[in-house]
Amino acid sequence: MLEQLELLEKEALVALEALEDSDALDAWYKQVLGKKGTLTLMLRSVGELPREERPAFGRASNELKTKLEAAFEARAKSLRQADMVRELERGALDVTLPGRPIGPGHLHITTQTLRQIYAIFAEMGFQVYEAPEVDTDELNFGLLNMPPHHPARDMWDTFWISDEVLLRTHTSPGQIRAMREFCPEPIRVILPGKCYRYEHITARSEHQFYQVEGLAVGHGITMTDLIGTLTEFARRFYGPDRRIRIRGSYFPFTEPSIEVDMDCILCDGEGCRVCKGSGWLEIAGAGMVHPVVLQNGGYDPDEWSGFAFGPGVERPAMLKYRIDDIRLFYGNDLRFLRQF
Ligand code: PHE
Repeated sequence: MLEQLELLEKEALVALEALEDSDALDAWYKQVLGKKGTLTLMLRSVGELPREERPAFGRASNELKTKLEAAFEARAKSLRQADMVRELERGALDVTLPGRPIGPGHLHITTQTLRQIYAIFAEMGFQVYEAPEVDTDELNFGLLNMPPHHPARDMWDTFWISDEVLLRTHTSPGQIRAMREFCPEPIRVILPGKCYRYEHITARSEHQFYQVEGLAVGHGITMTDLIGTLTEFARRFYGPDRRIRIRGSYFPFTEPSIEVDMDCILCDGEGCRVCKGSGWLEIAGAGMVHPVVLQNGGYDPDEWSGFAFGPGVERPAMLKYRIDDIRLFYGNDLRFLRQF
């Protein structure tokens, strides 16, 4: 038996040495060390030997296995190197060729939409004011006229960091921050940014989305200023023929509160699937800043007034570019993103 091992060793090593390229390595391995390879089969037949010969045979064949494996690795390495030298000599790989250029990419559709919105409001004198996405219960709710247990809080479920800290559900807490920073100057700002809601994700709602809050505070600001501003925005963003409709609504931080609709751009107000037959699409909640909110921002409501509005960003982009599923925005599918 031990002689057979010696013979196997000699033959296997000669065969290994004789291999011409790395493609032949697999076959050798299979034949010698594979599941049905000669050495493996020999190892398995140890049971047939007389008991006293078994330990010596077992030891010798395990040693041989280690040896052949090492020989295989070494041979594989040198064959691969030889392959590479051959390839290089054949000139198959020209290492002096310049690399393939990586395209510069482009802005995400949300960023593009945000920039269009900034540009339109910039021309109307609104500057961009950034506020944090992680904010306090007090700013997101309390100072916006929603003390703890106020039922209107139910309109905005969110993700809580602690009892006091949360992911903001809207950009409205930025109103308080802007007022406290600019008081006692008049204000005209837009507050763009990400908002979060603990919501069921559907084609129309994500748990994460953008809003662009608008806030104007000054002397003698009225509802007509608000309506004029939003009409102007709709015409510049969606097209010059757009019409606006106002409905009464409720927000704790505006009084009176309104909901702003625009005639449906898909059917021109005729009624279709997107506007659910009504001919109108909701584009923003808005209203006159509530006296309590003005006061919380540092302004005397007897002297100052203001308006605020809060459209989303993805939904306007969906209308403008006729995208029918909001989940596409952050699904990271390049086939979608490259279209914009
Ligand atoms: N923050 C409100 C919302 O997210 C929208 C809004 C903004 C309403 C400003 C009025 C004034 O639903």
